[in-house]
Amino acid sequence: MIYPIVKYGQDVLEKPAEPIETFDGDLQKLVDDMFETMYAANGVGLAAPQIGILKRLCVIDVSLGKDPSAKLVLANPIVLSTEGKQQEEEGCLSLPDFHAVTERPLRASVQAQDLLGNEITLAGEALLARAFCHEIDHLNGVLFIKHLSKLKRDSIRRKVKKMMKAGEW
Ligand code: NI
Repeated sequence: MIYPIVKYGQDVLEKPAEPIETFDGDLQKLVDDMFETMYAANGVGLAAPQIGILKRLCVIDVSLGKDPSAKLVLANPIVLSTEGKQQEEEGCLSLPDFHAVTERPLRASVQAQDLLGNEITLAGEALLARAFCHEIDHLNGVLFIKHLSKLKRDSIRRKVKKMMKAGEW
């Protein structure tokens, strides 16, 4: 099932999400739906709050569906360590058509749980490190525009407000 993606301006995107406590078939179904939703939107990552579910769960696939081994599910993820810096253009499915260069760590290690509740540790660099940080931010109610200068962030906010008023958001 493809969920509608919640856009910037909705409260659910700016609240900390609740831990996943039950690892069952419902969670598997939710994860399948999140992948389907993410691929339909051509995204490389999707966090549960973006479909209105305030749970600490995200899916990532930096291969955009081309490499099955790139499909990652992270329940209750935390960043363990980071290294270096990268400056690249970043976007978010909840802020369609807005992109901006943000600074992120070049490498990031994360700890999470898989679909069975087993503890896993993953390491990523470049786009994957960026995706880890971006998606974990979502679970803490943080959007990528928080990493921009106030000037840039306010400009995006103004444009979104304008679009909301025009019924285009
Ligand atoms: Ni996002």
